[in-house]
Amino acid sequence: MNITAKKYLEDIVSYKPGKAKIGLDNAIKLSANENALGASPKAIKAYQNLSNNLSTYPDGSASELRNSLAKKNDIDPDKIVCGAGSDELIALITHAFCGEGDEIIYSQHGFLMYPISAKKVGATAIKVAETNLKTNIDNILAAISSKTKIIFIANPNNPTGTYLNKDEINKLIAQVPSNIIIVLDHAYEEFVTEKDYPKNSLKLVEQNENLVVTRTFSKIYGLASLRIGWCYSSQYVADILNKIRGPFNVSSPAQNAAISAINDDEFLELSILHNKKWLKIYEEEFLNATQFNLTKSAANFILIDFLDKQKLVKANQLLAERKIIAREMGAYGLENSLRITIGKDLENKMVIEQLKKIY
Ligand SMILES: Cc1ncc(COP(=O)(O)O)c(C=O)c1O
Repeated sequence: MNITAKKYLEDIVSYKPGKAKIGLDNAIKLSANENALGASPKAIKAYQNLSNNLSTYPDGSASELRNSLAKKNDIDPDKIVCGAGSDELIALITHAFCGEGDEIIYSQHGFLMYPISAKKVGATAIKVAETNLKTNIDNILAAISSKTKIIFIANPNNPTGTYLNKDEINKLIAQVPSNIIIVLDHAYEEFVTEKDYPKNSLKLVEQNENLVVTRTFSKIYGLASLRIGWCYSSQYVADILNKIRGPFNVSSPAQNAAISAINDDEFLELSILHNKKWLKIYEEEFLNATQFNLTKSAANFILIDFLDKQKLVKANQLLAERKIIAREMGAYGLENSLRITIGKDLENKMVIEQLKKIY
């Protein structure tokens, strides 16, 4: 072979999405943190309305969507950038502010697209130890070096489900030098009902030029297949991201569906209540379990550490008996854990029933 990619690209371990099938018909996919209730009926209709107009390019600046987001969140539409999922925005931010020889910092069990995006630009991803499966701010601050360009924090974090509260986020922002970008990835924000969670993160962007908040329509809004996310940042960062993104990076059906989704408060509320109900049931059933460890979650999934390989295999077998697919967590350094998305009522009941068989 006479062609070669950049050496550092060859070393990337590709992201492995949650399985959709394990040779089972009608498998129940609880492996990708999708919304158990599907998508807003209004968003589905808006998507369908575009089916007769597939020959035209989308609005490259997503202006109607940005205006809707701005109105809903009381923020500046010019500082919003939309992307093909927040994955694209994570990649664009890294591309823009990080290169060979630079470093990004992320948490020990942080979302894997952070180190992957760093490696794509030849940067080094510095993994920082957590405490009890929770991001440790002091460890992050201690890991900062002259090479650090970006700190990525998922809040709540995937796959642990733990979150940083307002005080912790304020401390982080106050202590990180202003030449380092802090990305607060709020993919699961809408699910969080804890009072001390920083729902005000978009407002913090107004006071901190180095802060970027990413959001997605893939989780509570149930539009994962349409690939649409957005971020809010200083004007400088937004302008740079707009220069480097593809000119039509978000499709018209995605933009249309997202606009309707934002305005469907009823669907959002139902999704929050469903999730909260099942997180509570899981906690009541298993928080004190001795056969495995359940981590208290603020998102739409639970993480269970089965403590040894044998029990993990058993758990997977028991779930497979009911055609349920959970996500194995080896890639996150959690060899004996499964992450299980909150599903529909019957699906969750089946998961609980099967987990109770583990001793
Ligand atoms: C923490 C976190 N951030 C970002 C994403 C990417 O979501 P999307 O690209 O679908 O917006 C995910 C998806 O699982 C996630 O868990």
